[in-house]
Amino acid sequence: MKTSDARRLLRAAAAATKNAYAPYSRFRVGAALLTAGGEIVTGCNVENVSYGLTICAERSAVFAAVARRLRKIQAVAIVASGPKPPYPCGACRQVLAEFCPASTPVILAPLRRLADFEETTLGELLPKSFKL
Ligand code: THU
Repeated sequence: MKTSDARRLLRAAAAATKNAYAPYSRFRVGAALLTAGGEIVTGCNVENVSYGLTICAERSAVFAAVARRLRKIQAVAIVASGPKPPYPCGACRQVLAEFCPASTPVILAPLRRLADFEETTLGELLPKSFKL
């Protein structure tokens, strides 16, 4: 994906980390989705005192997009407050696969070093995904 598009999407994901509700882990995650019409939809992790009810940033972004009927995702950016690029959890990979083809670029960066982003694809992250 074009570096300028990647940077724009990473900046949106970085901004979304500011809205993370993570009083238990203190690990803030932001996700930004580039939708088919060019609109960017973001999400953040929202934790719960009953820990298992926590929702990840990636799923919160996908659900926000779908709630607006934006069902085609062209690219995904994920940024987190830790020192490493935040690879999405297995559940989020499967949820992304519902709305992204395997070729969809996924870019990842730590909040403090957005310039050091890594780029992969959903197909690389979730090969042989479940299908009906
Ligand atoms: N988290 C995400 O937001 N995305 C992931 O893919 C993995 C984990 C969140 C959940 C929790 O609030 C915090 O990171 C620590 O697990």
